[in-house]
Amino acid sequence: MLIKTRRYPEPQPSEITDREVYLHRRRFLQGLAASGVAAGLAAPVSLRAGSRSPDVTESKLSSEDKLTPKDDVTSYCNFYEFGTGKDDPARNAHTLTTKPWSVTVDGEVEKPGTYDLEDILKPHTPEERIYRLRCVEGWSMVIPWLGVPLGDLIKRFKPTSRAKYVAFETLYRPSEMPGQTRAILDWPYVEGLRMDEAMNPLTLMAVGLYGEALPNQNGAPLRLVVPWKYGFKSIKSIVKIHLTEKEPPTSWNIAAPNEYGFYANVNPNVDHPRWSQAKERRIGETGLLFFTERRKTEMFNGYGEQVADMYRGMDLSKYF
Ligand code: MTE
Repeated sequence: MLIKTRRYPEPQPSEITDREVYLHRRRFLQGLAASGVAAGLAAPVSLRAGSRSPDVTESKLSSEDKLTPKDDVTSYCNFYEFGTGKDDPARNAHTLTTKPWSVTVDGEVEKPGTYDLEDILKPHTPEERIYRLRCVEGWSMVIPWLGVPLGDLIKRFKPTSRAKYVAFETLYRPSEMPGQTRAILDWPYVEGLRMDEAMNPLTLMAVGLYGEALPNQNGAPLRLVVPWKYGFKSIKSIVKIHLTEKEPPTSWNIAAPNEYGFYANVNPNVDHPRWSQAKERRIGETGLLFFTERRKTEMFNGYGEQVADMYRGMDLSKYF
């Protein structure tokens, strides 16, 4: 159910789209609900990786790189709410309840409100689509994500001219997220993007991977994917999207400001204070990570053509 603010009643999709498109979407949403994607359940979806389902559009920005095996994607995770070990989230995240799930959108928008996940996923214009985007994630995995471009979502809420940044917040529920009872980070986990980064077509609100709903350990039911940035920007299990005039705080920047900046663009020329970032190992490429050959890290993770213009004139060693 959509919980709307009274000031901005939304027309029903049937009022603003032609009947054929509307009916198609109804079937699509019913499919999502039945498959568990909308409900955030880890059930298989009728769409398989590589299939040409009419409901999912392959993104033009998808990479041709070899995919990381699904088992690695779902077992080697970072989700400190469930422990700091890479295998902790897969073991512990089953405690998270993802249904019902709602997302609050507020701040510098004309249409603030708290929206049920199903409404968030529902296309609101004929142009909106669920995409499959195969992309190199900022900690060196290649994952076929399913999701909606964040920009399509943001447009619906009509940002005001003062909206310069987008802040995100993860669910805070220590009873289901045991890591939140420990002072590892300031909870809840928070992240942010500049408005142009948020509107870039590469930035995805992911609801699935490998043709299935997101497993809890990968950020069910809704997480961010920002392919040209380091992995920590891709905040999981999002419950709040806040548009703001000022650069918002981010969890890793609060924890270690000299190590993690706001931008966190993948950049082989700027070393982390404690290690070089010029080379990387792709997870799952061979059996043991330690024996996987290092490859040269590409500027912006190889997405320079799509994103470099946003940072023209900025000193990226200062804005790291
Ligand atoms: N989001 C939340 N809420 N909590 C976290 O600890 N870890 C981040 C990011 N999103 C994290 C998070 C980090 S450090 C990485 S590398 C990616 O999630 C990992 O995503 P994956 O486990 O799906 O590969």
